[in-house]
Amino acid sequence: MANVVVVGSQWGDEGKGKIVDWLSEQADVVVRFQGGHNAGHTLVIDGTTYKLSLLPSGVVRNKLSVIGNGVVLDPKALVAEIDRLKEQGIKVTPDSLRIAENCTLILPLHSELDVARERSSGKGAIGTTGRGIGPAYEDKVGRRAIRLMDLADLQVLNGKIERLLTHHNALRRGLGMEEINARTVYDDLAEIAPKVLPFMDSVWSLLDEKRREGKRILFEGAQGALLDIDHGTYPYVTSSNTVAAQAATGSGLGPNAIGYVLGICKAYTTRVGQGPFPTEQLNEIGKTLGTKGKEFGVVTGRPRRCGWFDAVLVRQTVRTSGIQGIALTKLDILDGFEEIKICTGYKLDGREIDYLPASEHSQARVEPIYETAEGWDEVTAKARSWAELPAQAIKYVRRIEELIGCPVALLSTSPEREDTILMQNPFET
Ligand code: IMO
Ligand code: MG
Repeated sequence: MANVVVVGSQWGDEGKGKIVDWLSEQADVVVRFQGGHNAGHTLVIDGTTYKLSLLPSGVVRNKLSVIGNGVVLDPKALVAEIDRLKEQGIKVTPDSLRIAENCTLILPLHSELDVARERSSGKGAIGTTGRGIGPAYEDKVGRRAIRLMDLADLQVLNGKIERLLTHHNALRRGLGMEEINARTVYDDLAEIAPKVLPFMDSVWSLLDEKRREGKRILFEGAQGALLDIDHGTYPYVTSSNTVAAQAATGSGLGPNAIGYVLGICKAYTTRVGQGPFPTEQLNEIGKTLGTKGKEFGVVTGRPRRCGWFDAVLVRQTVRTSGIQGIALTKLDILDGFEEIKICTGYKLDGREIDYLPASEHSQARVEPIYETAEGWDEVTAKARSWAELPAQAIKYVRRIEELIGCPVALLSTSPEREDTILMQNPFET
């Protein structure tokens, strides 16, 4: 019986929400370990759609849900999300949700800085979600962040705010923004504190206890391995480690707590925001994938860039995340294509390579080498068994497995949880 980590294997939006929801039925605890409310996880249960950004998907199934220390937490976004769920009939209480006391907080000044920087970057903009994720992680690493536990000690909080503002007001002056006074920040935090403090807990110790009791822990990754601050397409990445190893650091468990790594992977490729995308299709194919796949951001509503499956990238993220099985999603979006292309390698300066080069300059110049697979006319949407799939679709899946060097453990054929074909149960490996 293994604890399972679910991570994105591309640039995010692979369909992690549905898969985590599918797995959470078998789990006792669901843990978020990085990122913040830049994530957009969609769950469809009995025809009702739930959109989560910050809360672990387990809240919808009333599983113990945990926000680990690796997450950057916007307390206002948290309260708003809890309220939204309440309107949908889901109750989130301190019995069902725990947040690490050493979690870094996102304040309004972080999102303001995020947006101002993007605006002043012109062509060099990253295309962030504007949620303050990067600036909050900077303050964490800069050792000046306000953390959840600081809200419980209002005496000490003032000093921390002063320290934080010395840094931020200098930045704001440079960017031509109005300076902030400490009182505003303090009043804001003092007001929200009683709403979030009841969820505070020592998460490392809670999870250690659960683990000793033999409970099943499901780690819910946000974003994807190609948005990882170290292993992604830097600087066009998010500001956290999104690879599976972060599940340990971001929750306070040792790496041996992770039993199985499930990588979520779309049957084609999408990306939101700027940055290299070798197989991007700026043509009718890309438009068709976007329309059929409803490729619009959950968080920002931006249209996603679309392209063919890139086996080079996924082969690499299988390695950097230690992925043992793939959950392949949205295969049905390829229904009706006469032919489907798969990128198997790149050409760089006349040379063939089988990996994504590390430098931004090289990444922007690689040209994909494609092989062509035969398409299918049949509808694979909502298929619930392997036998319901046309031969060409099976061949496509098998070829992907071969190229990325990893088996497909789950196949998802619609946003509904029942439309899932299981080959290997991640919890039972
Ligand atoms: P889920 O969990 C797709 C992208 C942004 C931008 C870059 C940096 O739904 O898969 P940030 O606001 O994080 O500093 O933006 O990362 N990005 C995502 N793209 N899915 C996500 O989350 C993302 N979260 C951030 O578009 O390019
Ligand atoms: Mg998303």
